[in-house]
Amino acid sequence: MKILITGGTGLLGRALIETSGRRCGITATYLDKCPPKDTPAVKYRKLDIRDREGYDRLFRELRPSVVVHTAGVGSPDHAEKHKKESREINVGGTANIVANCERYGAKFIYISSNGIYDGKSAPYREDDKAKPINFYGKIKLEGEKVAKKTGVPHAIVRPILMYGWNNPSSRPNIVTFALSKLRKGEKVHVYDDVYVNPLFVQSCADAIWKIVKDERYDTFNIAGKERVSIYGLIQKAARIFGFDPGLVMPVQQGFFNEMAKRPSDTSYHTGKMRAVLGIKPLSVTEGLKLMKNLKKASGNG
Ligand SMILES: NC(=O)c1ccc[n+]([C@@H]2O[C@H](COP(=O)([O-])OP(=O)(O)OC[C@H]3O[C@@H](n4cnc5c(N)ncnc54)[C@H](OP(=O)(O)O)[C@@H]3O)[C@@H](O)[C@H]2O)c1
Repeated sequence: MKILITGGTGLLGRALIETSGRRCGITATYLDKCPPKDTPAVKYRKLDIRDREGYDRLFRELRPSVVVHTAGVGSPDHAEKHKKESREINVGGTANIVANCERYGAKFIYISSNGIYDGKSAPYREDDKAKPINFYGKIKLEGEKVAKKTGVPHAIVRPILMYGWNNPSSRPNIVTFALSKLRKGEKVHVYDDVYVNPLFVQSCADAIWKIVKDERYDTFNIAGKERVSIYGLIQKAARIFGFDPGLVMPVQQGFFNEMAKRPSDTSYHTGKMRAVLGIKPLSVTEGLKLMKNLKKASGNG
């Protein structure tokens, strides 16, 4: 089976490649960060998601059976600051990929976000009303609407806040950011009024591979087992990685003057991922221990 992963150098794209097992024939696209070397199983291609002719050529050459579309702007603050460009990438880029899936008969998996919810009615189930409170959430939801209109089999996967080893040249996630500060003995300030059930990125990748294998083309909210504040998550990370938890300082929204407001509690109900995909959500401790045991692939841990 030939698989195309957009955003193959990102946090989730990398985890998909690392967990792809004996699947071969993966092509992974990226924008500009240095990718790993090609292997017999995985080839990397630099190709902007907005490039219509480029993706038409790639689909014609590759004829993928399944496309996992992870590429895009993932930072709510970047999206808020660069609205036009972020919509072109997250919505226009998704439309470009969907059009090619239709033209060449590929199944489509769209990666959405917990950012589509307003954070006032957790825990969220798949059918709960989406009501984004920032621009990032708005354009992720617009991407869902593009995906839902297509006639090809498609799934919508909504990961909650993810953590794991990232590409050293790419944006860190909350855990790798905090570890890089703690390792230097610096204080790290994190919100104690923003709640999620944090998701170890490989657990999200496992759920996606299950969708591909069992052809469960549907909508899934994917998360870990426990609802904690970001402060609670980083306290546990400090302990598990052997740093001083006293360096982790609780702060409230507004402390960083961030451009995008975060929804205060987007934690998920995880019944569907368990029942339909058979994926057991991991506790924070289980996820962080798995991360610690993985060969550290990042310079920022
Ligand atoms: N991380 C989270 O906690 C989280 C939570 C909920 C949902 N999500 C969603 O999950 C998806 C993956 O997130 P992530 O954290 O893995 O993202 P990430 O680490 O920021 O990686 C983004 C990937 O997209 C590529 N990319 C960005 N702009 C592109 C463009 N114009 N053309 C082609 N490729 C482009 C990047 O390539 P380069 O490396 O070359 O820049 C990179 O491979 C995103 O759709 C995000 O909205 C993430």
